Amino acid sequence: MKTPQKYSGWCLRHGGLMSKNILVIHGPNLNLLGKREPKIYGKCTLEDINGALKKEAKKLGASLRIFQANLEGEIVNIIQEQSEEWADAIVINPAAYTHTSVAIRDCLAAVRIPAVEVHISNVFGREEFRHKSFIAPVAAGGVYGFGKESYILGLQAALYTLKNGKK
Ligand code: DQA
Repeated sequence: MKTPQKYSGWCLRHGGLMSKNILVIHGPNLNLLGKREPKIYGKCTLEDINGALKKEAKKLGASLRIFQANLEGEIVNIIQEQSEEWADAIVINPAAYTHTSVAIRDCLAAVRIPAVEVHISNVFGREEFRHKSFIAPVAAGGVYGFGKESYILGLQAALYTLKNGKK
């Protein structure tokens, strides 16, 4: 079964010594962006965000693989496989799993590569249950509250983290 959606057409390879491989993961319900609670998440679709990420990656000389998955175990599998085979760093919006998932937290702690946590909304200005992140303690850092730009800043932060040798 091939439920996790891999945007294979958007996998960019630039080659060259400086090229870094960045795995981007969008968690549950982010496939609904554009239609989903636009007052909170804006009108940008996931395609818009991925397009902006591709553009930025090209500018920065990074290669991207982008996945969206609604299931926790699929996210764990993607992180394990891609970090083993290909990725140098991860940009992840774990969406609702941010606040619940020990499995994704443990997976990010287990792999050898750093992760940057991103959120479109300012999770700390919202309901109290969103103030807790299981991911933050094992991430290199996080970006939240800047809409689509959170992802762009997250990509820049992932490259910064690699350059500065931090997991
Ligand atoms: C989110 C914030 C989460 O609390 C929520 O469950 C999401 C999206 C964000 O990007 O703002 O699905 O991760």
